[in-house]
Amino acid sequence: MKNGSVLSKRVINLKPSAVMALSARAQKLKEQGVDVISLSLGEPTWDTPERICSAGIQAIKKGYTKYTPASGSQKLKEAIVINIRKWLNLNIEPSQVTVSIGAKFILFSAIQTLCDPGDEVLIPTPYWVSYPSMVELAGACLVPIPSLPEENFKLKPELLKKHITEKSKVLILNSPNNPSGAVFSRSEWEALAKVLREHPQLYVLSDDIYNHLYFSGPIAPHLLQVAPDLKDRVLAINAVSKNYSMPGWRIGWAVGHKDIISSMSKFQSQSVSCASSISQEATAYALMECDKELEETRKDLTNIKDLALKSFNAIDSLEVFPPEGAFYLWVGVKKLYGSSWKGGTINSSADFVEALFQEKSVLCVPGEEFHYPDYVRIHFAVSKQRLLTACTRIKDFISSLS
Ligand SMILES: Cc1ncc(COP(=O)(O)O)c(C=O)c1O
Repeated sequence: MKNGSVLSKRVINLKPSAVMALSARAQKLKEQGVDVISLSLGEPTWDTPERICSAGIQAIKKGYTKYTPASGSQKLKEAIVINIRKWLNLNIEPSQVTVSIGAKFILFSAIQTLCDPGDEVLIPTPYWVSYPSMVELAGACLVPIPSLPEENFKLKPELLKKHITEKSKVLILNSPNNPSGAVFSRSEWEALAKVLREHPQLYVLSDDIYNHLYFSGPIAPHLLQVAPDLKDRVLAINAVSKNYSMPGWRIGWAVGHKDIISSMSKFQSQSVSCASSISQEATAYALMECDKELEETRKDLTNIKDLALKSFNAIDSLEVFPPEGAFYLWVGVKKLYGSSWKGGTINSSADFVEALFQEKSVLCVPGEEFHYPDYVRIHFAVSKQRLLTACTRIKDFISSLS
């Protein structure tokens, strides 16, 4: 199309998902026969557990193939209520739950519901790639709050305090964190809760999507476990995409104050109607019956994380942050700045990623995408053999630099 003006300014300005673009590039090379190792994925590499797949098939056979309410089926909302009671020790009602198409659309719906143009949305760095575009599409202003390696990439209460203004409306927190794997402890949540109590205009979107992929127990600590008094100002957002390896089933949900929840459901009813009825049935089954699968995933993931840490720690000049959850290694590459490869000099993590991809066909994601230069994100939950091959290639690549 010649005339670009046909497109809205909103869409012209929108940044496409960089991770998806990288993955598409890797896929193209794979189709040409190149042995690409893609460690850029943001999804589990293992299959959806068999019993959950069967529940989905049964749902189709039993005729769960019609629209559900925009906020989700009663059965799934009740399963989420039981889940929240079990894991967060909170008593809520189904009217405090809304279900939609993955955590991504739930976050989008929440930001659209809470933010007017000019409102400030505070997000600690490093942060997930899609938050900025969601904030932009609501006309709100993103306020990144820096975190430091020596503070384990976690938001400090003093720094949160410093960034709050009268325009601050929403704070997005993500623990376990994508990309760093950092997890707030109970005492760190308590310290953040103190600041939140001093600023009652601030709403928290707690993105809990990796909460069962936690290496020190069945569930990562949560703000609402230590500060249940904040429950009317916190939206606990979750999905089956990562915990149950169901990204393609597209089910996510939010739990919170019923007025916010019903407004989100209204927004969802006018945009996507409802999430897949079949996936909702399978999700209700997963939440009610599949703790065993969650535990197996957690054990396997912990083993592969230990191997990844050991292998990457053995490479001089990489600074590897030990993750507490999720399935990424967050790796500092700054020590390599100034080194040369045949395509030029490495002066940024984006340069490192590009050179590694061209030289060794190993793909990871540069920290710039997470508003955090000098680091790269490496997805470690691949097979043991692929992980070790990737590690050898990265080691060889670094040795080849001059
Ligand atoms: C931190 C974070 N939040 C939300 C999402 C979106 O999840 P979903 O696939 O359920 O939309 C992702 C997916 O990569 C994520 O990493």
